[in-house]
Amino acid sequence: MAVLWSGRFQKELDRQVNDFNSSISFDGRMFAQDIQGSMAHAAMLSACGIISQADADTMIQGLTSILEDLQSGALQLDMDCEDIHTFVEGELTNRIGEVGKRLHTARSRNDQVALDLRLFLRDEVDGIRGQLKELIQVLLTRASENVHTILPGYTHLQRAQPISFAHHLMAYVQMFLRDLDRLADCRRRMNLSPLGSCALAGTTYPTDREMTARSLGFDGPTVNSIDGVSDRDFAVELAAGLSTVMMHLSRFSEEIILWCSWEFKFVELDDAYSTGSSIMPQKKNPDIAELVRGKTGRVYGSLVTLLTMLKGLPLAYNKDMQEDKEAIFDCVDTVRQCLLVFTPMLRTMKILPDNMRAAAAKGFINATDCADYLTQKGLPFRTAYKTVGELVAHCVRESLTLETLPLEAYRSYSDLFEEDIYQEICLEACMEKRLSQGGAAPASVLCQIQLSHEALERM
Ligand code: ARG
Repeated sequence: MAVLWSGRFQKELDRQVNDFNSSISFDGRMFAQDIQGSMAHAAMLSACGIISQADADTMIQGLTSILEDLQSGALQLDMDCEDIHTFVEGELTNRIGEVGKRLHTARSRNDQVALDLRLFLRDEVDGIRGQLKELIQVLLTRASENVHTILPGYTHLQRAQPISFAHHLMAYVQMFLRDLDRLADCRRRMNLSPLGSCALAGTTYPTDREMTARSLGFDGPTVNSIDGVSDRDFAVELAAGLSTVMMHLSRFSEEIILWCSWEFKFVELDDAYSTGSSIMPQKKNPDIAELVRGKTGRVYGSLVTLLTMLKGLPLAYNKDMQEDKEAIFDCVDTVRQCLLVFTPMLRTMKILPDNMRAAAAKGFINATDCADYLTQKGLPFRTAYKTVGELVAHCVRESLTLETLPLEAYRSYSDLFEEDIYQEICLEACMEKRLSQGGAAPASVLCQIQLSHEALERM
């Protein structure tokens, strides 16, 4: 059992306590960040005259060789160690002898773990942002192919008004653009270095926190040493941002699942992105979308784990905080896995415009336009609304649609109706007239696509 404390204790740690206390099984994945942080620390110690240049060089060489061996698999983590920090320091001392024991000067595992986690999550945020950009690109491409593809827009899951499939996809583009922005914001606050906060109170050594912060790519050091080691807001913010990503993916998944059903049949997933049943030969199931929807809960769970772990914690470091890692790691891993399959599923998804058009034709989704027709002829909208309501009821009774209702029938409800009503309520025309900013008309949607491309460029 490798622990970093000695001197104060007369007995070895109980085996089960060691296992309970140890975090190397999950913080081991931060080995590269731990080593990177140690190298920056060693360089700073020598630049500030706290250790010799020769010792720093030896340390950095030793750390480099450990990193290489871990990456190549020549060196395995010792699962008996308390954590990754213990392992790296122990291995360094094995390799370079006594000099290794100077590395922990003016440092604590408390600032070390806070540093490692920020470095690790910073890379994860960048990776996830890259994946979100890819997803947005795919949506923009699919949208630009479908600005004329008529789809019934829904409220209350009831057919409401004609939109295009592109218009619908562009709603998701806005959500994912906001997610990108939220994650950028989270990264900005995350990008401060806690290194040099030490255990909690800073140090008596003449350290240079600006130097380590800069060399590790941070915007600067954290301001208060107690906060430096106690703060996990960056993990909470990331989990919250990723919960929102999952909420968006889950809503989208729900729609894809509906669209794949025979009741809708608006899309068909590529065979490579759907699954079958072990008993029902006819089945083609949208498992990916269902799993994305299902995994949303565990990402929310991570957020609640983190918030609950921190609530009520006195300053500064408490061992409870070791629980942050499994939660936030699961959170980032889950989102990355979901995006990895969700984006190509969308890219390869077949769109069935005829079915969308047929569904749009059946639901009186041009009723608002019919009322607008009367309004343009001078009737107050509320009165027009009532007249069209009666027309719809008539059509339902007679199994007709507004398109097939004869002009005489129209005129029996209002003599403002003339032959041109049929052009006015044609679904294509209804969609094309929604030229308001952000509206469903192809011209408006093309403008949304252009604006979104520009927004993506800036991200
Ligand atoms: N494994 C610990 C964690 O993840 C590292 C920090 C330990 N610090 C301490 N004072 N015991 O939080």
